This record gives sequence, structure tokens and C-alpha cells, in this order.
Amino acid sequence: MRVLIVFYSMYGHIYKMAQAIAEGAREVPGAEVVLRRVPETLSEEILGMMGALEAQKSMASIPVCKVNELAGADAIIFGTPTRFGNMCGQMRQFLDATGELWAKGALVGKVGSVFTSSATQHGGQESTILSFHTTLLHQGMIIVGLPYAFAGQMRIDEITGGSPYGASTIAGGKGERMPSDNEMASARYQGKHVAQIAAKLTR
Ligand SMILES: Cc1cc2nc3c(=O)[nH]c(=O)nc-3n(C[C@H](O)[C@H](O)[C@H](O)COP(=O)(O)O)c2cc1C
Repeated sequence: MRVLIVFYSMYGHIYKMAQAIAEGAREVPGAEVVLRRVPETLSEEILGMMGALEAQKSMASIPVCKVNELAGADAIIFGTPTRFGNMCGQMRQFLDATGELWAKGALVGKVGSVFTSSATQHGGQESTILSFHTTLLHQGMIIVGLPYAFAGQMRIDEITGGSPYGASTIAGGKGERMPSDNEMASARYQGKHVAQIAAKLTR
């Protein structure tokens, strides 16, 4: 059973969450977990102006995803930072290249799940995940979120990401906050939960 984690991360927050998602998925016996980045669409110059070059170097060892790799997975967990309450353009461009897979029904019946990151607490995490789900439904995927069985999303004693729609982290206005222990735990839970469901569907 193959779990593919496909993400874009500009400053490393989603990358860190993706690693926790992978850890959780690997806990499920028989799960083969693969991490992939979507192709960059911005030039080095623009990335430099955005202060993203250091973080990009830290992710350079993660292979860039080819669209056809989606067809070989049983579950796909997508990670994207919020951009104006939606997925980032890099992810949109990648998904817009999946028309041939859609035409063949290649993703129908696969498990799909989404996690995200935003600068601010109410900056659009839920809208990013829910609007992402639209694309997954068009592809015929079975959507899995982060159930309240992960009790960490009920916390009010500290600021935290995480909703029934999926794991998330709050990065701060300058990207100064990295995922908290609770947010990392939510990502591990989502990874494991998705893999467990995929294992049942592929039995
Ligand atoms: C063009 C642009 C739009 C953004 N829009 C939002 C937004 O709507 N809400 C928000 O809270 N943060 C917004 N952010 C901040 C990003 O979500 C934040 O940098 C990201 O979650 C950090 O994750 P990463 O390090 O994995 O890229 C935006 C950032 C950029 C560059």
C-alpha cells in the first residue's frame, strides 16, 4: 500500500508537517511512504527576494513529483501553504496538469487528504483545505480529514492549528513560528489515519 505525500513549502513549515505526516503513515504495517515536492514556478531571483532560498536548499533532496506518480499511489496527502485563503499557485499548476489522469479516471477511489499552513490564526486554513477538496472530488477521490479523535484539536490552552478538515500550523507573520508539538502530533495522526484507511481499501 503506497502513500504519496505531495507538498509545496516556501519557508519550511509545510515541509516539517509533511515529515510528521510521513512518520504517522509509516506506523501502519505495509505502508510504503514517499515524499515529493511539486515543481517550483518562481525564479531564483523572486525566491531570493522573498527570503526563501535557505529553506529551499533544505528541501532540495526531496524529488520533484511527476504527475504520473499520483496514479501509482493508494493514498495521496497534499500539503500547501495558504495563499489568500487558497492553495498556493505551485500546487494549483501541478493539479492543473492532471487532466489526463482525470480523463482516465486514474485517481478514482484513491484516498485524498490535505494539510496546510498560514501566517495567521484565522487567515484561511479551513478555506484552503475545503477548496482543495473540490479538486479531489472532481478526481473521484475519497476525502479523509482529521477526526476529533485527535483530541489535540480541541485545545484552547495554547494557540494551535488543526481542524476536522486537516492538520495545519500557524507560521506567524514573518514565518517565525515553526509547527508546535501539538500541530506535529496532528500531522502524525492524519498520516496514520489516512494510511489505515488506505490499508483497509486495498485489502
Ligand atoms: C502571496 C502570499 C499570500 C499569502 N496569503 C495568506 C493568507 O491568506 N493567510 C495567511 O494567514 N497567510 C498567508 N500567507 C502566508 C503563508 O501562508 C505562509 O508564508 C506559509 O503558510 C508558510 O508555510 P511554508 O513555510 O511551508 O511556505 C501568504 C503568503 C504569501 C507569499
